Amino acid sequence: MKATKYIWFNGKLVPWASAKIHVLSHSLHYGTGAFEGIRMYETAKGPAIFHLKRHMERLIFSAKTLGMKLPYSLDELMEAAVDTVRKNKLKSCYIRPIAFYGFGEVRVLPTNCPVEVAIAAWPWGAYLGDEPARITVVKTLRIHPQTLAVKAKITGHYVNSMLAGREATDRGFTEALQLDYKGNIAEGPGENFFIVRGKTITTPALGSILPGITRESVITLARDLGYKVEDRAISLKEAFSADECFFTGTAAEVTAIASMDNKKMKKPNGPTTKRIREEFLKITRGENPKYKKWLTFVNEY
Ligand SMILES: Cc1ncc(COP(=O)(O)O)c(C=O)c1O
Repeated sequence: MKATKYIWFNGKLVPWASAKIHVLSHSLHYGTGAFEGIRMYETAKGPAIFHLKRHMERLIFSAKTLGMKLPYSLDELMEAAVDTVRKNKLKSCYIRPIAFYGFGEVRVLPTNCPVEVAIAAWPWGAYLGDEPARITVVKTLRIHPQTLAVKAKITGHYVNSMLAGREATDRGFTEALQLDYKGNIAEGPGENFFIVRGKTITTPALGSILPGITRESVITLARDLGYKVEDRAISLKEAFSADECFFTGTAAEVTAIASMDNKKMKKPNGPTTKRIREEFLKITRGENPKYKKWLTFVNEY
């Protein structure tokens, strides 16, 4: 990972190396941070941030599930992200906003702990590599929705993701696929999951998954392209017999799945996945005017 010059930290840009926190920060001990992952792409009109508003809205929502009130408005957060990429002179990058409880007192309830907010950005390539992923169904179940607010992007939730991801990579796979507490497919540790059968695209319904912004975009795009899109429970059996499978996510974008537990998909990197991926990437590069509203053009902000 390549360091950039500045990180936006509690209202101002500070040098990358100075963006430090106290070791007794509440969120370090108890996993009580809300965060986001956002991508910025190069377009003909300069750099553009994909779904900046939706991501910052989700950050505010995630913080709210912790009872955390951010000291910045939606507009201020959006402006701060734009400032960060602009001052770092980035053309394309990954943007990581995080809101967390700093040091006040050490106890489970964040009494007297200040809410701190940082936004970092750095150049970042393909998350799962350029090849179609080889995935495995792991033993680590996705979080039960009555245990944690699974709809929120909270730092502590990623212990579950980390254990699932490690289970997969330790066994030589690219990525994990996690089941929900009912035994149906939930999602990857950092990606939503889709299957394709004929002209129908199906993805697990909300409930035990993070409502991904890429998932939402791909559902809209696929419907606009004439596919039938369903969100409902998907069993493992159904996924194994699908024509194609793919992952979506800010980091993973649209990643084809070649095999599950070493069983090759009928069409690894098949035509539907390819089409959705190509159209999705066109949108992020500002090449489809219909979806320009999904982009925040940094030079025009
Ligand atoms: C658990 C999980 N599911 C799905 C996603 C995909 O969400 P998005 O498309 O908003 O990046 C992510 C990434 O943020 C994630 O961490």
